[in-house]
Amino acid sequence: MQIEVIPYPGVQPTREQVERTIVVMDVLRATSTIVTALDNGATEVIPLSDASEAIVMARRLGEDQCLTGGERGGLPIPGLNLGNSPREYTHEVISGKKLALCTTNGTQAIRWAQPGKKVFIASFLNLPALVAQLLADDGDLLLVCSGRNGGLALEDVYCAGMIVHQLATEITPSKLFQSDSAVLSRIAYQSIKRSGLEKGLFGTDHGKALKELGMDDDVSYCAQVGVIDKVPIYTGGKIILP
Ligand code: MLT
Repeated sequence: MQIEVIPYPGVQPTREQVERTIVVMDVLRATSTIVTALDNGATEVIPLSDASEAIVMARRLGEDQCLTGGERGGLPIPGLNLGNSPREYTHEVISGKKLALCTTNGTQAIRWAQPGKKVFIASFLNLPALVAQLLADDGDLLLVCSGRNGGLALEDVYCAGMIVHQLATEITPSKLFQSDSAVLSRIAYQSIKRSGLEKGLFGTDHGKALKELGMDDDVSYCAQVGVIDKVPIYTGGKIILP
């Protein structure tokens, strides 16, 4: 198994890499929200670029069937039903519904990954389930960090690093090829292992920004590991549970 990590959107992968199994992560908060919404019964999540697209999609699918959600600058977008806090997507709110979601970084990264052989959605919430799936598939990987406004988001690098770390503990070293960016991500993750993931997330730029917005509980929620045993996939323009 070969593992390559795209630390932030500006780094262009090779054609071969794009056709691998791609794992997209936007820990704070888009992929945490998507995994939570599907775990709470959403039938599908449609990643979109902007609010007007989400509103048009909901009208087309029927506003009683499809809710809209998203954020700009971390804040809910006026005119949409929900924001991008995973804690808003309870069973009562989202079960049986579709979700048209537009966020600044996460939904763009997911759409970018469309050419991938398979596209999985990762967060800390479902990380052990995802690693089990990747071990079962045993294919070469491209781990894509959604980043923040075109730059690096350390929380995503920690997530990629934890995936690499867990795979490395399960796969014989002679059968695992970690690129420099994979090794660097793992070192970054190992640097916060002792002090704890939650503290690590609060130490990131985005963690601090969400705290500023009074969304501390979202950061703590997104720092939970393995509380959801589902691995969503992105296929045919929507994210579903296989
Ligand atoms: C994003 O996709 O940019 C993030 O999820 C934004 C956020 O939730 O704060």
